[in-house]
Amino acid sequence: MTGAESAGGAPGVAVVSGAATGIGRAITARLAASRAGEVIAVGRRSDRLAGLADRLGPRVVVVAADLSEPDGARRVLAAVAGRPVDILVNNAGGNADPHRVQELDALAEAWRANLHANVLPAVLLTHALLPLLARPGGRIVTVGSVAAVRGPATYGGAKAALHPWSAELAAQLAGDQITVNVVAPGYVTDTEFYGDRMSSDLHADRSRRSPMNRGATPEEVAATVCHLAGPEAGFITGQVVHINGGALLAGR
Ligand SMILES: NC(=O)c1ccc[n+]([C@@H]2O[C@H](COP(=O)([O-])OP(=O)(O)OC[C@H]3O[C@@H](n4cnc5c(N)ncnc54)[C@H](OP(=O)(O)O)[C@@H]3O)[C@@H](O)[C@H]2O)c1
Repeated sequence: MTGAESAGGAPGVAVVSGAATGIGRAITARLAASRAGEVIAVGRRSDRLAGLADRLGPRVVVVAADLSEPDGARRVLAAVAGRPVDILVNNAGGNADPHRVQELDALAEAWRANLHANVLPAVLLTHALLPLLARPGGRIVTVGSVAAVRGPATYGGAKAALHPWSAELAAQLAGDQITVNVVAPGYVTDTEFYGDRMSSDLHADRSRRSPMNRGATPEEVAATVCHLAGPEAGFITGQVVHINGGALLAGR
């Protein structure tokens, strides 16, 4: 439930981007199990979305859309069909160019690719849905990354851009009792984030970045996202909540 529901209104919809795999799948499953309203699950690959809908049941409605483009956000807006949006989770993203390039054309392309992959989906979808956000009680949670504070630069720089954007929105929407926060995970297991690059060596390396010597599960990240999206978090806004098993502690 959001603040809007707990105030007595009928549940509106929840919208989750990047919903078919990894962290987004865990968020979608948790929202579908814990609240009454419809969950609109967005991603680009229809086959992945169909599998999600089969598993989670009729309250999860899938929309295939590329959220880096305005038409993708418009497609989601059409699926919402004027209903109030209680919860918006901007989770779609990933490291679109993990190579540390130096050549100028390649460098420009790497920055463009990561801004396109990580900033535009959150900005376009949020601004498309903003008029429908439940007032009071709407929740916007955007998935950032520990990379925003320590790189790698093109991906981390794109994730870092979400911080001031989210903070400005939080200030603008606070009077409407809408909260806006970023959840910034460190390494998370069981996602498609690393694609073909994943190996036991890479897993061990990323796990060592936390003094707990492991990554988060998608469900651990989803629990934090869903807390911020829930009625008990109505006074938390404008924050970046890190979930990384202590990976940023001093002395590491
Ligand atoms: N895994 C980690 O270690 C880690 C750490 C910190 C932060 N994160 C962040 O966590 C978020 C979720 O990633 P994940 O780790 O769960 O990896 P993932 O399994 O690759 O999930 C990303 C999801 O986003 C969707 N997506 C990507 N671009 C999209 C677009 N333009 N429009 C619509 N959907 C799009 C993908 O599906 P389609 O390809 O079908 O669209 C995919 O389902 C990302 O923002 C990522 O940057 C991940």
